[in-house]
This record gives sequence, structure tokens and C-alpha cells, in this order.
Amino acid sequence: MFTKRSTAEQVTSDVDLTGKTIVITGVNAGLGYETMRVLTGRGAHVIGLARTLDKATEACKQMEGTTTPVACELSDLDSVKRCAESIVAKDIPIDVLICNAGIMALPKLIQKDGLEMQFLTNHMGHFLLVYLLQEKVIQVPGRIVMLSSSGHQLTVKGGINFDNLDGSQGYSRFRFYGQSKLANLLTAKAFDDRLKDVGVRANAVHPGVINTKLTRNLGGVLGAMVKLPFGGILMDKVFGKSIPQGASTQCYVATNPNLQGVGGKYFADNNEKKTSTYGSNKDLADKLWNYSVKYLTPYL
Ligand SMILES: NC(=O)c1ccc[n+]([C@@H]2O[C@H](COP(=O)([O-])OP(=O)(O)OC[C@H]3O[C@@H](n4cnc5c(N)ncnc54)[C@H](OP(=O)(O)O)[C@@H]3O)[C@@H](O)[C@H]2O)c1
Repeated sequence: MFTKRSTAEQVTSDVDLTGKTIVITGVNAGLGYETMRVLTGRGAHVIGLARTLDKATEACKQMEGTTTPVACELSDLDSVKRCAESIVAKDIPIDVLICNAGIMALPKLIQKDGLEMQFLTNHMGHFLLVYLLQEKVIQVPGRIVMLSSSGHQLTVKGGINFDNLDGSQGYSRFRFYGQSKLANLLTAKAFDDRLKDVGVRANAVHPGVINTKLTRNLGGVLGAMVKLPFGGILMDKVFGKSIPQGASTQCYVATNPNLQGVGGKYFADNNEKKTSTYGSNKDLADKLWNYSVKYLTPYL
């Protein structure tokens, strides 16, 4: 039985990933880097994605195992499409697709392509990536892991406000982060619903509270604490988790043999957890699916 304090090394200690291919977004930092390090160490070939090829290459160069760096700027849908096309062109079945990259709590509203930046990056970019790579995951059939957050509970009224996805009618940095993370959770459920009959299973993960670069925009008590001289230690050992512990749940959900055939679930601390009411709302998941597919039509 794994716990909140289990590390990514520990939860994968019995797993041999030789011959498996795993795609991970955001491998140049934080949880994505640790996830790539541990999964390559277990024998997987990791296709490591970062905003630029330089960042992906730099991260991949640090690994001892087999890696392939690819550029994927999630807030640029042309970049996501190019990334997906280059992966499909390699003609390698994908055992696991881990949608890890993310941004949090942008202090000011940033809009691009008619969407608020966190929704565009965290949700729409990943939705497009998964949609375009699904055929390769079906070939195995493999697993999809979406990084959500317990922050999905702190979303806007209605869960996803389809009338204000660009934030022009009001913006709250934490609620919009929550909305994007709820979208990640609902996307896992939506892909799971549509792909489970062909054997692909999708789940969502809350990794814990970890002092990574993600916290750079945090205000309040938590923001002040991580800036203290011993703030990092307090976060790692008392209030939150270390990076090796934080990367564990996504590694567990991506690889544990006991989760074969398990999908549509939400995990935290290496165990299944309950979501918010919005997080288990199938109508909302379907509405988000339909909205996303329509929005992305030029890229599909
Ligand atoms: N840390 C936590 O406490 C926590 C809690 C709950 C959920 N999460 C989730 O865990 C995931 C990983 O977060 P982390 O803590 O490891 O954060 P992090 O250290 O800030 O790493 C985030 C990664 O995402 C990449 N990224 C950001 N914007 C991108 C874009 N537009 N296109 C492509 N890549 C982009 C970053 O690249 P750059 O370095 O180039 O910016 C970086 O590689 C996120 O989805 C986050 O929401 C984290």
C-alpha cells in the first residue's frame, strides 16, 4: 500500500517498463522532470515534451535511459499539432500519455485565441494533444494520465463557465486555475468514456502540494512561506511533499499493474479519491468535450 510519502522510485520499484513508450509534457522542470527520470530508469523510452526543442533536449540529455525530445508549446495549437504529427510519424505505439505540464494562478488576465491563458494551456492544448495521439494509444491499448489538482474544487460557478472562457466578464486567478484543472479531470473522464471499449483507460491525478516553479505566482500565506529561507523544507516535509513524492501518484497511475482496466477515476497520494460534484458530472464532461472538439475543428 503506497501513501502520501511514497516516492516515484518506490511506487515503480516492481515495474519493468522495458519496451514501453511514454509521452510526457513539461519534462524540463518539476514533476515532469522527475517523472521522466524515474520512468526512463525503469526502462521506458520517454518522448519528452517541453515548450521548445532546446528545453526538451536539455532535459532529455540529463537522463540515463532512452529519450526523444520534442517541442510542444501548449498555448500554441499549431505547435501542439506539429508535435503530435511528429510523434505519429515515428509510428511507435504509445503505452502511456502523461499530460503533466501546467501553469497556475496567472496574476493578470491573459487572453489568446479567444481563451483565458490557463484554460488554453492546461486544458485546450492538452485536449488537442490527446485527441491527435489517441490512435497511437489505442494501438497498445495504453493509458492516459491527466494532471488535475485538488484546486479543481475551487472553480468558477457552474464548474466550467462556457460564457466566460476568455475571462472578459470577470477573472479570478485561482478560480480560473481551478476551472482549467476541473477541465483536465473531466477530460480524463470523457476520453475514458469514449475509449474504454477499445481498452484505453484514462485517469486524473492530484499530485499534492509541492514547492516547484508552479508556485511562483502564489500570494498569501503559502506564497510568503515558500519564499522564507526554510520555506522549501517546511513545504517538503510539513505542509506538502518533496518533488520525488509529488511525482509518485502520476507514476503509480501510469504504470501500476493493479490499475490495468481502471479508468475514469481521480487519484491523490497514490490512492483513489473522491472528486467534487462537478468533477463527477458526466453532462459537464460531455459539454466540455463538445465545446473542445468544436473549438479545435481547424486542427482535427
Ligand atoms: N506543484 C504543485 O503543488 C501542484 C499541485 C497540484 C497540481 N499540480 C500540477 O502538476 C503539474 C506539474 O506541475 P509542477 O509543479 O511540476 O510545475 P512546474 O515545475 O512549474 O513545471 C511545469 C511544467 O509545465 C511546463 N509548461 C508550462 N506552460 C507550458 C506551455 N505553455 N507549453 C508547454 N509546457 C508548459 C513548464 O515549462 P517551462 O519551464 O518552460 O515554463 C514546466 O516544464 C501541473 O499540471 C500542475 O497544475 C501541481
